[in-house]
Amino acid sequence: MQTLNVALGERSYPIFIGRDLLAQGLMNPYIRGRQVMIVSNETIAPLYMDTLRTALDQAWKIDEVVLPDGEQFKNLDHLNSIFDALLEERHNRTTTLIALGGGVIGDMTGFAAAAYQRGVDFVQVPTTLLSQVDSSVGGKTGVNHPQGKNMIGAFHQPRAVVIDTDVLATLPERELAAGLAEVIKYGLIYDAAFLDWLEQHMDGLNGRDPELLAQAIHRSCEIKAQVVAEDEKEAGIRAWLNLGHTFGHAIEAHQGYGNWLHGEAVGAGIMMAADLSCRLGWISTDELARVERILRAAKLPVTAPMDMAADDFINLMSVDKKVLDGQLRLVLLRKLGEAVVTADFDSQLLMQTLTHGRSGS
Ligand code: NAD
Ligand code: GLY
Repeated sequence: MQTLNVALGERSYPIFIGRDLLAQGLMNPYIRGRQVMIVSNETIAPLYMDTLRTALDQAWKIDEVVLPDGEQFKNLDHLNSIFDALLEERHNRTTTLIALGGGVIGDMTGFAAAAYQRGVDFVQVPTTLLSQVDSSVGGKTGVNHPQGKNMIGAFHQPRAVVIDTDVLATLPERELAAGLAEVIKYGLIYDAAFLDWLEQHMDGLNGRDPELLAQAIHRSCEIKAQVVAEDEKEAGIRAWLNLGHTFGHAIEAHQGYGNWLHGEAVGAGIMMAADLSCRLGWISTDELARVERILRAAKLPVTAPMDMAADDFINLMSVDKKVLDGQLRLVLLRKLGEAVVTADFDSQLLMQTLTHGRSGS
């Protein structure tokens, strides 16, 4: 097992990464009260709920709420079912919520924990590659609004993150690729050597080699922990983690939440950000081709949906959380291994990127 630390003063917390961790009760020392509410969904609960429950201290009151599965349920209505369960079971301010699931469950559980009785503890037990490398770390929580992705939420850090890499064995193929989008993102924004490593090992990662997956998860979490420790509330460098997300969130909202997976939309979005970076002369056409190759190798889409016009992007991107004083800011690539957040781009070049390629074309 490997352990990383997210250094945030008195709100610091560990990330445990290893095999068969679900059964080991690693979260127990981070549960301060005697009540626990496990939040999961209909797909994950039958697979892993019993193992997790058995590993918890049996003297505690352990309850569970099982939500329907899907990004389309990441909304205020379904958030309310978590509050209903907490109140029905008389959970008080010393309760701990445990998120057992992917990013949807993690974001919703974290937000419920941020709001319930003005804030209670929570622990992340991420079960998708995407949630293990990204969403379980850093304390961004929330739900979607029909007009925009993750528009309602809060920063609320977990008390611990327990990453059991064995659970990835049951992850559907498409979800594995979606997680690889966020892994590739770290190489592109922060670590060119990691990008090289990913290029060399993409076949093994696609084949779920446990050792390679553990290495990729470890390096991704290390980068995320470093960025979050430096800029918890996204006043600066944390925005780099949104490479491809402004385009990607627009794709998700336009296509209807759940139709394009978040990671798939981010994959196409990264390609669009790289395309604009190339048009601005910051990366070469060879480097742009390299970005496309690695995304394709990870089995990710590299073009936006056919039915999405440039105007759809412009409308949806105008509600992005990085918009400042009405001005759209984008995360782009200054070079491979370094990002930049900027509003300083020619809008004609952006229009060229938005009309450049479409899925299926
Ligand atoms: P997800 O939570 O929808 O999970 C994907 C699918 O895999 C679901 O059907 C789920 O039931 C299933 N699943 C999960 N674990 C499984 C397992 N071990 N075996 C079999 N099936 C399993 O999607 P995701 O990609 O994990 O997360 C996407 C969400 O995360 C989006 O809502 C996105 O906005 C959010 N996100 C948040 C942050 C953050 O910093 N908070 C960062 C990135 C993404
Ligand atoms: N996934 C983006 C962030 O955590 O900031």
